[in-house]
Amino acid sequence: MRIIRTKNYDEMSRKAAAIIAAQVIHKPNCVLGLATGGTPVGTYKNLVEWYKSGDLDFSEVSTVNLDEYRGLPREHRESYWSFMHRNLFDHVNIPQDRINLPDGTNMDADAECKRYDAVIASMGGVDLQLLGIGHDGHIGFNEPSDAFDMGTHCVDLTEETIEANKRFFASRDEVPRQAYTMGTHTIMSARKVLMIVSGRDKAEIIKKAFFGPVTPHVPASILQMHPNFVLVADEDALSLV
Ligand code: GLP
Repeated sequence: MRIIRTKNYDEMSRKAAAIIAAQVIHKPNCVLGLATGGTPVGTYKNLVEWYKSGDLDFSEVSTVNLDEYRGLPREHRESYWSFMHRNLFDHVNIPQDRINLPDGTNMDADAECKRYDAVIASMGGVDLQLLGIGHDGHIGFNEPSDAFDMGTHCVDLTEETIEANKRFFASRDEVPRQAYTMGTHTIMSARKVLMIVSGRDKAEIIKKAFFGPVTPHVPASILQMHPNFVLVADEDALSLV
């Protein structure tokens, strides 16, 4: 595990974008695993800028997103499909047919999870997986539980996650209660994992996840075992370690 400490959110975003850019330059037809949430917005902004300045070309890149709310139409402003288009896909040249997210509108959970695992397998796995972290240690939507999950599955979001994500919706009632998420095993199979974290409110969970025992009760802790894991975090997020 490698930790890159940055002064603030902006520097974290630039460093993370630089790592992703290096991946795309090294392997133009790479598979990027992408994440949503407030944290990656600045990273995507940098990638868009570098694309616009001619420094990056995404024409051969494929993407797989970590997760999607179950039951939310794609067009809903807070679907992860909309988030990704608004923040990245609408502004760079990733071919539409190489963009993959779980289909939250497919209410047949078994079929959708199988389909998504088959998509990831058909791409030969993920070269670089970008991750944020939830306050309870979740990655994607792999919530704390008694065992690590394997492939894509349907999860009931915890009260803490619903509470954290209500800021994006008009009211708490509107936050979907379920999501489809890539499993922990799939995340661990990525050839490189890049986590970005910013803010004092994440300091506690960073200490638990990366300086405490590996346990499914803190899903991110398993990344301690990943052979190529980079944590890019700002001073506030690292203030307790
Ligand atoms: C959501 C996403 C996660 C993300 C987490 C933290 O639950 N499913 O992928 O890491 O939120 O989000 P934020 O970056 O806004 O703190």
